[in-house]
Amino acid sequence: MDPANTPDYRIAPSILSADFARLGDEVGQVLAAGADFIHFDVMDNHYVPNLTIGPMVCKAVRPHARRPDGSDAIIDVHLMVKPVDRIVPDFAEAGANIISFHPEASDHIDRTLGLIREHGCKAGLVFNPATPLGYLDYVMDRVDLILIMSVNPGFGGQSFIDEALVKLADARARIDAYAASSGRTIMLEVDGGVKVDNIAKIAKAGACTFVAGSAVFGARDADGGYRGVMGKLREALASV
Ligand code: DX5
Ligand code: ZN
Repeated sequence: MDPANTPDYRIAPSILSADFARLGDEVGQVLAAGADFIHFDVMDNHYVPNLTIGPMVCKAVRPHARRPDGSDAIIDVHLMVKPVDRIVPDFAEAGANIISFHPEASDHIDRTLGLIREHGCKAGLVFNPATPLGYLDYVMDRVDLILIMSVNPGFGGQSFIDEALVKLADARARIDAYAASSGRTIMLEVDGGVKVDNIAKIAKAGACTFVAGSAVFGARDADGGYRGVMGKLREALASV
């Protein structure tokens, strides 16, 4: 499935906040509760100060990543690793659909974007809170997704940085201008501190794809569970 042909607003639970001892079940449950993408955070204790999961776990999760209609769900891999290129083919082989990386972590950004696409995946560029959008200037044709970090990468459960709203609006303007001239849509994703009470204002700033880790998996034992929180996030989006 082409990730761009999914609903206008997509919710992408980050499995960083899932119960890692039951990862397959957790993935199945959030998809049954209406998640659109599975966001897969890869950290290397080098580019970011934390260490998480790699291609072997992606491969293990792949069979559990099914939508309620039985079709494959999108696995949205967020690479917080340096170097980037060496690991890209492994994730493509492990079943990733989207692979995004931080421009500061690649010596040859244009080449890395091409490499991801050559391996059959959609390519994304990720912008840390202080990273300028200028990295997009000459590569829009090679980008399928722009990911705006609304926290500094490395950990779940941090607070949303409000300046990200300004950057989202800037990115939205670039995407709309590019779509008008090329006819091609680029997804605009936001990652970090997205909650039921701020998702509407984030959508108004221009985001269409929302990573939510602690907000979704933190509702494991709450009233209504994952279905309850997914419903509240959708309800807030419907008000936009
Ligand atoms: C942070 C990760 C995020 C994180 C989001 O480096 O990229 O995907 O898991 O978690 P919350 O939604 O809890 O901020
Ligand atoms: Zn992420």
